[in-house]
Amino acid sequence: MNKVIGFIGAGNMGEPMIRKLIEENVFKKDNIMVTAKTFETRQRIHNNLGVKICEELSEIATNADYLVLAVKPNQYEEVLHQIKDVIKENAIVISIAAGISSKFMKENLNDGTKFVNIMPNTPVLVGEGLIALYPNDTLDKKDYVELLSIFKAFGRVELVDEKLMDAVTAVSGSSPAFVYVMIEAMADAAVLSGLKRDQAYTFAAQAVLGAAKMVLATNEHPAKLKDNVCSPGGTTIEGIRELEEKNFRSAIIDASLAVAKKSKSMSK
Ligand SMILES: NC(=O)c1ccc[n+]([C@@H]2O[C@H](COP(=O)([O-])OP(=O)(O)OC[C@H]3O[C@@H](n4cnc5c(N)ncnc54)[C@H](OP(=O)(O)O)[C@@H]3O)[C@@H](O)[C@H]2O)c1
Repeated sequence: MNKVIGFIGAGNMGEPMIRKLIEENVFKKDNIMVTAKTFETRQRIHNNLGVKICEELSEIATNADYLVLAVKPNQYEEVLHQIKDVIKENAIVISIAAGISSKFMKENLNDGTKFVNIMPNTPVLVGEGLIALYPNDTLDKKDYVELLSIFKAFGRVELVDEKLMDAVTAVSGSSPAFVYVMIEAMADAAVLSGLKRDQAYTFAAQAVLGAAKMVLATNEHPAKLKDNVCSPGGTTIEGIRELEEKNFRSAIIDASLAVAKKSKSMSK
């Protein structure tokens, strides 16, 4: 793509997104502009990724056709205030922040400025992320087509209604952390039983990866896939009994609802 993409912020989420756009050849390095608050981050991004570094927000805003706001939600208001009058004509401002609504974007941008709200998750780093995108009336069909061609570098893209974004934050944004806890626990058990630590993580992580692929690739109901692993009177069903006794399902549901509730309370 010959257009220019700018990133304001290059932390846990911004940096992997930039890296993926380079790896997937969606933008040439020369067409990627990045800024961050501190000199250290700007220097690190320059050294690691070789993209154009800017010191001024206005330099990015006046040049970028796509402008990703990869700062924390509580920095959005200040950053939008600084750039809203100098955003390039027809540019699309991309919000990736949890809890930032389309109403907030409209209120903090000038009339007519295009924007889109998306919710990525950290597996974008390995091209297995999920980008939830909710449409709004500032964009036309051509804009969506272009945005989808960019976002597919990060993994899957799903269109959702804005009112479902709190649920999306739980099931996609936060759930990788739940899975890491499970992988760690699975590996601890394997280590207790004598496996080496690094091998234990490999077994646990590969099992989770394989199970997730089975769900997506076969389209089978997860319960059916579970049933397939549980032989009558066998080993796996013993583990399932323990999980049910310890309220595993209920813990996951409660954790997800807690995330959605927090997300709702933080939204603006
Ligand atoms: N992390 C996740 O799993 C995740 C998932 C979904 C969505 N998100 C969203 O992604 C956004 C970024 O989160 P993060 O975890 O990447 O945060 P982060 O690691 O703290 O990175 C924030 C970046 O913003 C830069 N920054 C702060 N103020 C700035 C300013 N005034 N001008 C220019 N740059 C500025 C920081 O610069 P310095 O490095 O120099 O301090 C840093 O590079 C958030 O809105 C979050 O809701 C994150």
